[in-house]
Amino acid sequence: NAGALWGGRFASGPSPELVALSRSTHFDWVLALYDLAGSHAHAKALAAAGYLTVDEEEGMHAGLDALARAIQEGTLVAQPGDEDVHGALEAALIAEIGPELGGKLRAGRSRNDQIATLVRMYLLDHARVIARDILRVIDAVVAQAEAHPTAVMPGRTHLQHAQPILLAHHLQAHAWPLVRDLERLRDWAARASVSPYGGGALAGATLGLDPQLVASELGLARPAENSLDGTAARDVVAEFAFIAAMIGVDLSRFAEDVILWNTREFGFVTLDDGYSTGSSIMPQKKNPDIAELARGKAGRLIGNLSGLLATLKGLPLAYNRDLQEDKEPVFDSVTTLEVVLPAFAGMIATLRFDTERMAALAPEGFSLATDVAEWLVKRGVPFRDAHEVSGALVQACESRGIGLEDADDELLEKVSAHLTPAVREVLTVDGSVSSRTGAGGTAPVRVTEQRAELTARAQAA
Ligand code: ARG
Repeated sequence: NAGALWGGRFASGPSPELVALSRSTHFDWVLALYDLAGSHAHAKALAAAGYLTVDEEEGMHAGLDALARAIQEGTLVAQPGDEDVHGALEAALIAEIGPELGGKLRAGRSRNDQIATLVRMYLLDHARVIARDILRVIDAVVAQAEAHPTAVMPGRTHLQHAQPILLAHHLQAHAWPLVRDLERLRDWAARASVSPYGGGALAGATLGLDPQLVASELGLARPAENSLDGTAARDVVAEFAFIAAMIGVDLSRFAEDVILWNTREFGFVTLDDGYSTGSSIMPQKKNPDIAELARGKAGRLIGNLSGLLATLKGLPLAYNRDLQEDKEPVFDSVTTLEVVLPAFAGMIATLRFDTERMAALAPEGFSLATDVAEWLVKRGVPFRDAHEVSGALVQACESRGIGLEDADDELLEKVSAHLTPAVREVLTVDGSVSSRTGAGGTAPVRVTEQRAELTARAQAA
């Protein structure tokens, strides 16, 4: 068959079962344009080393361009007999420019160094798309924080009321991990910008082709230092899959908050109609499906990473066909994030917050008890005692069914002589929040400063 890249030493062709197992064109066709870019660069290196005349090089580039157009138009697709994208495109090139010239392109390269290079090019391109999409989620968070500069809410630990905080502080706490994900992508890209092209099957080239020329043509920083490592290592793919999984987990945690906030019991947010779904039986329903899909797809992203690591774990050097199994999971991670992130950004951008309800719940659950203890510390009471006094006040109020702010002078005095009526200065949510001016705290001034830093870091990544 015309697409076969091997056959000389075989008496028979491949069995149909082998063909069915071996075929990868149904997923590696997304690399077709990268494969052609690699071939353009390789043709230049062959010409520079004297293996192609000027005319031949021109004919080669023209043929590759014709293939690229046909791929974009959808007229060139893999044939049933093609094993992989590389073989399919070589067959198509030979059909386009003839076997004499077309047959020269494969000198000095192998599918092993090709695929290792192309997957890096693909991931580097998609890392840019994913980074842009993450930035949109961060922008949506920042816009919501800016629109609600003073809104307060109950801050929780163990999902229990803990201390009041600013809504903006909470929202920004979900943006920081995404900023670090952007930074992870940037750091990964610097490591990924390597070209194994020219490493051949494993041992390196004899033809004197310039690997830096190929790397530069492909937009990669430098050639691989070791031809075995270049063709057989996939830590670059696993690391990308980890970052994708981390992004999924970060979105999933954010999603879980949205899902809780959207319950009747919380009642903190209303989802925009365009970003929520209905029920086929219950006419009243409005469901947070975007958040749930984001949460669910985090599991899939984690699965892609762990499957890939399991594939790599026992592999000896150098190339093994197992390595073909890196593609479907990592391509899936890419396409998953590219649908989840835009929907998530839209959901966050259009959330409506019931700030009155959040404010009403902020002081509940004795969430100002720590403020009472710290007020006592400022008056010289050791924290151990202050903690006891504040706890006793909580107990006294709880048994009377009142809040801390409702305790009258007599009750305060009864609980402790230290509790003068002046303690009421910290018994408001706004007072509590404004007093948390320590680094990274929830005081409005700190939260505004933090937002500027968040935006700067996101832009710089
Ligand atoms: N399709 C293979 C992969 O994705 C590349 C081809 C290498 N095949 C081979 N028999 N050496 O890794």
